[in-house]
Amino acid sequence: MANSINRRNWIKSSAMMAGGLAFFTGNISKLAAMPVLKTLKATTKRITDETVIMDALPVMKARLLANENPFGPSPAAKKAMADALDTSFQYPFMLTSQLSGKIAAYEGIHQSNIMMNAGSSPLLQAAAIHYSKGGKSIITGDPSYDDLPTHATMNGAVWVKVPLTKDYKLDLDAMEAKVDDNTGLVYICNPNNPTGTILDTEKLKGFCERVSKKTMVFVDEAYIDYLPDPQASTMIGCVKAGQNIIVARTFSKLYGFAGLRCGYIVAQPATIGIFSKYTEGSFNMSAVTVAAAIAGYRETDFLQEALKKTVASRDFLYATLKKEGYDYIPSSANFVMFPLKMDGQQFVSEMMKRGVGIRNWKFNGQDWCRVSIGRMDEMQAFADAFKQLS
Ligand SMILES: Cc1ncc(COP(=O)(O)O)c(C=O)c1O
Repeated sequence: MANSINRRNWIKSSAMMAGGLAFFTGNISKLAAMPVLKTLKATTKRITDETVIMDALPVMKARLLANENPFGPSPAAKKAMADALDTSFQYPFMLTSQLSGKIAAYEGIHQSNIMMNAGSSPLLQAAAIHYSKGGKSIITGDPSYDDLPTHATMNGAVWVKVPLTKDYKLDLDAMEAKVDDNTGLVYICNPNNPTGTILDTEKLKGFCERVSKKTMVFVDEAYIDYLPDPQASTMIGCVKAGQNIIVARTFSKLYGFAGLRCGYIVAQPATIGIFSKYTEGSFNMSAVTVAAAIAGYRETDFLQEALKKTVASRDFLYATLKKEGYDYIPSSANFVMFPLKMDGQQFVSEMMKRGVGIRNWKFNGQDWCRVSIGRMDEMQAFADAFKQLS
């Protein structure tokens, strides 16, 4: 029962994320043609509309709604996972230390500057809770990744949203101008999700240096691995310089580990100490995931290949949009945003009916679509469905 409730909730939320239950209403007969329902009909006694809706996963031709990377994880990471099963009765202390040691060596920092976790999300949430204490404010771009500020507002924070510049970048000057005595944290997502835009590195460095003297600066670099030279753009150097900065990284994107859950922050040891009040850190990670991350970390050839495939699929998407007469925001990440010519919710729902999952946003009084970059067959499925609606 507990399982079925959990599954129901998951399906409910993913269906709503993909455009609401409206998609399912009136589509029962189409859904019934799907293999998953044929199996369901054959094996269960009483089927109601509700059980069909809740138990049917939409069969997606293209899953382009969560900025995942279908080109990962690497074969070496998969082999390491299989090998790690034999010793998975052991707690992963040694392994997690090996992983953070590898990261520290590559970045030229100390292990005490790193806290690992099951994805970067628990670390964003810890930051949200700590830095919003006492009704402090959290400054973010608008739109930007909203996980941290959303959790902060649940904790009583004031969310100060700063509109993007005309070219859809975070407006660093306007964000800096909003910093005051009540600011708990400034959240910078670079490249920015959902727009895919990047900041000028020198400008961001200057911002970090100045603003970190007044408040905590959290730089989320979830998508930095998609840049041609991440080392040239990272703000880890600001941590090395002793600044009051937190840099978040994840294996969920270019490494293709979203389902494995592996992420980390780089910060001053005292800041890492604060985080340990809120989370167990690397103890939240499975030995299997950590083994995969050790095998996959900085596996340059594989990562370059994944990047190449992403760029090819992204170029195909650009060409599709252009052909249909649409603009888009040039992206430095594995997703692309473009302005719609119809209602965003309706567009998501119509695309989902065609087996294509994407996301919509509304800002500047305009409906927008964000398409995550997938395999070429998924981008083709997007193109086919999009042509019917554009
Ligand atoms: C900007 C950004 N930060 C953090 C995350 C969370 O990633 P994870 O918890 O998988 O590491 C995401 C996920 O999409 C994201 O887009």
